[in-house]
Amino acid sequence: MRKKIIAGNWKMNYCVNKAEEFVSQIKDTINTDEVDVVICPNFVSLDRISDLIDGTNIKLGAQNVFYEDKGAYTGETSVNMLAAVGVNYCIVGHSERRQYFNETNEIVNKKAKKLLEKDISPIVCVGETLEEREESKMFEVVEKQVKESLNEIDKNSIENKVVIAYEPIWAIGTGKTATAEQANEMCKYIRDVISKMYDEDTAQKVRIQYGGSVKPSNANEILNMSDIDGALVGGASLTNDFVAIVNY
Ligand code: PGA
Repeated sequence: MRKKIIAGNWKMNYCVNKAEEFVSQIKDTINTDEVDVVICPNFVSLDRISDLIDGTNIKLGAQNVFYEDKGAYTGETSVNMLAAVGVNYCIVGHSERRQYFNETNEIVNKKAKKLLEKDISPIVCVGETLEEREESKMFEVVEKQVKESLNEIDKNSIENKVVIAYEPIWAIGTGKTATAEQANEMCKYIRDVISKMYDEDTAQKVRIQYGGSVKPSNANEILNMSDIDGALVGGASLTNDFVAIVNY
């Protein structure tokens, strides 16, 4: 049985004081062991949020990382730096990073491997554009992203550490959600790709989230689909809606 994982991606929102205030306000209501709950604030707030959720079941996530260990990389953050403040998960290859910061599958792969070296779980994002869906290229596009982003990652990590997030770009921040059937169809397809890359047993163990305009009104239906193992939540993770989603 795959445990659901619900992660809140705050993106570039909330300064540290507001971040602390919000987490203090909701933490008791999202502190559960029925699902894995992850909060992904901005880098600047990680340390303080880490202290705040210490002793709860809530996990800490980062939104990005760099794949080198240290050195002259102005503005970048290493995996060791994340580990030192208690980060358990890190989003890699979010479509906004692919779009605005030119992240490729190869870069995403390097980041995911580096995170695994330090025992941090990568949440690897994949998803097609509206144009690609309209041209019926979505399966081809997502398959390539999955294969290249997970290149040379061992079976054990896929089963126990890696989380894949299917986020159709046309559904992110637009209020347009994929139907639960569309989301499930792609998550199932990703599972088939994993089965071909590894084996069926691994495919049954890997956790695959859906992301893109998840809100309290659609969370239950989405999270009850056969191949969807959780949600990556953007906008709705900044409000009490996140509590409702976690308690779907
Ligand atoms: P959204 O964002 O929930 O605001 O659509 C999802 C995401 O980008 O992870």
